[in-house]
Amino acid sequence: MTKIKIDYSKTLGFIRKEDIFGFQGEINAHIEALYKKTGKGNDFLGWVNLPSSISFEALKDIQLTADQFKKDCEIVVVVGIGGSYLGSKAVIDALSDNFIQLKERRNPLVVFAGQNISEDYMTELRNMLHSRSWGIVVISKSGTTTEPAIAFRILKTDLEKKYGKENAAKRTVAITDEKKGALRTLATQEGYKTFVIPDDVGGRFSVLTPVGLLPIAIAGFDITQLVKGAVDMEKQTGASTKFEDNPAAIYAATRNALLRKGKGIEIMVNYNPKLHYVAEWWKQLYGESEGKEGKGIFPASVDFTSDLHSMGQYIQEGQRNLFETVLSIAQPDSKVVIEKDATNLDGLNFLAGKRMDEVNKMAELGTIIAHVDGNVPNIRVELPLLNEYFLGQLIYFYEIACGISGYILGVNPFDQPGVEAYKKNMFALLEKPGFEAETKAIKARL
Ligand code: PA5
Repeated sequence: MTKIKIDYSKTLGFIRKEDIFGFQGEINAHIEALYKKTGKGNDFLGWVNLPSSISFEALKDIQLTADQFKKDCEIVVVVGIGGSYLGSKAVIDALSDNFIQLKERRNPLVVFAGQNISEDYMTELRNMLHSRSWGIVVISKSGTTTEPAIAFRILKTDLEKKYGKENAAKRTVAITDEKKGALRTLATQEGYKTFVIPDDVGGRFSVLTPVGLLPIAIAGFDITQLVKGAVDMEKQTGASTKFEDNPAAIYAATRNALLRKGKGIEIMVNYNPKLHYVAEWWKQLYGESEGKEGKGIFPASVDFTSDLHSMGQYIQEGQRNLFETVLSIAQPDSKVVIEKDATNLDGLNFLAGKRMDEVNKMAELGTIIAHVDGNVPNIRVELPLLNEYFLGQLIYFYEIACGISGYILGVNPFDQPGVEAYKKNMFALLEKPGFEAETKAIKARL
């Protein structure tokens, strides 16, 4: 099996190999706790065996639903927030040709809503949908999250105005809890096709459920290959794999060893803008899983080389509490060769005949060396190719490493109690019934 590779050699000097391998016994115990469901948050471990337990029938049902959207729609709006959108957004952006025009597309354009409460965003989206054929995939595990609920209320009305109530319902799919939540009630009432998010899979670990798989299939990508990659990584990171051959164990150990040396901020770096949302997905996964009880590594991200011209200065010379994890793609999908220029006014003829990717790779290597010299240790994760199979590997790699890393930190990586604080204040300020005491208290502070 060709697999993603992890290289921690450029952290040595900041930490020792023994610091990484010192986690071996502890990590073996954490992997066992994840598999045997004996650790913290053990009622949310359904994702651990998820890839290998996805059935052919389940994938077929998702694919058939996607095919129906492909027949009916130019655009599909995926309504969701957090784990209910970031995974599919990450995979779709990574695999899409982002410059292709709507009329040239063979598959529907998948756009997102309900991930913000911006009126401008909603207005522009509605303007675009107005003259197109479209449908909705609404996703909420709890079925009660405010942002997607508002977006869905607005878009559902638009869809019903355009197609009539009955046909609008045929163009709507809901992905939610099996039994509870407002979205489940609404879906039953309206007769929507539904998919279930398993009880024991939290939002940010749900990309390999219909939450991620349906939008990815609608966008025309191969969900069988995505799942196959995840299955292979599930095997590669299981309890029977030796520590040094388990990339998730190595990654979790290395980042925690760095944290113990005062490196409390991890920056995910890419050299291909297609990976921007992979980093956004990763930030939610690690930020929500680890950031609690005053603990955790702060996950940040940059797109290089663009951000070398904005954030490069800080990373090179600012506070020395950073480390970087470069996510690199070994082989690009395309080939662009730099031409020789007769005048050579830009002085770039020394690059003539080279591929842009060769320049990009030298920028990567040069930056890694510069940042290591500037006391920013570097972990490098390499994908052989940017395709469904390796993205599947990458997703599961980050998920299982997150579970291990959270257990090393001693937190419950599978809850998110802190997310409630802003909601309580927002509801109090909006005078939601039932929040009278909170409304009074918050108004007294204004
Ligand atoms: O990881 C999580 O569980 C959360 O961040 C959720 O993904 C997010 O809040 C969306 O929740 P829901 O799917 O219930 O609307």
